[in-house]
Amino acid sequence: MDKQELIALIRQKREYRDIDSLFVERMLASSLKEKSELLKKKDIESAVKETRAKLREVYGAFLSPKYFQREKFLNAIKDLNDVEAHKRILGLHLSTRERLPFYEEVYSQIFQITGKPSSILDLGCGLNPFSIPFMHLSNITYYAAELVKADADFLQKYFDKFQIKGKAFQMDLTRAENLPPADICFMFKVIDTLEAIEWDVTAELLAKIKAKWIIASFAKKSLGGKKKIKMEKRAWFERLIQKREHKVFEVENEVFYVIRGK
Ligand SMILES: C[S@@+](CC[C@H](N)C(=O)[O-])C[C@H]1O[C@@H](n2cnc3c(N)ncnc32)[C@H](O)[C@@H]1O
Repeated sequence: MDKQELIALIRQKREYRDIDSLFVERMLASSLKEKSELLKKKDIESAVKETRAKLREVYGAFLSPKYFQREKFLNAIKDLNDVEAHKRILGLHLSTRERLPFYEEVYSQIFQITGKPSSILDLGCGLNPFSIPFMHLSNITYYAAELVKADADFLQKYFDKFQIKGKAFQMDLTRAENLPPADICFMFKVIDTLEAIEWDVTAELLAKIKAKWIIASFAKKSLGGKKKIKMEKRAWFERLIQKREHKVFEVENEVFYVIRGK
């Protein structure tokens, strides 16, 4: 089987269909011990399984079963004050779902430190732009970066529907280029994900961010909430930012670092 056929096979599952082939090829690379044409049936099966497991870890695991009905949920939002409809859409992605009870507190704590921003860059944003009603900001410009183009296009529909000055775009953050400048940059629960794709990518990415403040967050429990993630697991990150002024606060499931940018 040639490599493109193998990639097509991996992408046959619904949750991986929209992921760019080049990204799938990168995730496949470490599972291929020899040319795909030389693989036996058993090796093909294990390469497919391993690659899907990686794609699941960095992308698929966060999507709820109703995620692919997201258009229907967007159509149901009446206006930016329709908080209940925003909550329903935030519930489609596990990262935003577990933050739902804490949004008001999180944004109030962040903006107490940073002041109210007029522009936000949200990296690996998932569905977080749908939390705009919890920010209580007027007239913001919102840049949203996500791995999968279909997801970025969906966020753009939301921005356009409610005349939010927003630009959603596809970007693989392990290869980030030309990030737009903004007052603050959110990196909510994205650093662990990026490090799973490429070890030690965070320092390089932080250097590329042109924002006055960077807010990075980490999950305190594994997805599903079963395992506690030890604080020592973030020691490397604390060393990375030790020379920058920063403050830390926590909510039940998540720890936030509010870091002085450039
Ligand atoms: C744990 S989720 C966090 C989502 C969001 N920031 C939040 O906290 O609500 C990680 C996100 O990173 C995105 N992602 C994974 N790899 C990426 C990459 N290489 N470039 C950009 N985004 C990526 C995933 O699609 C997913 O939405």
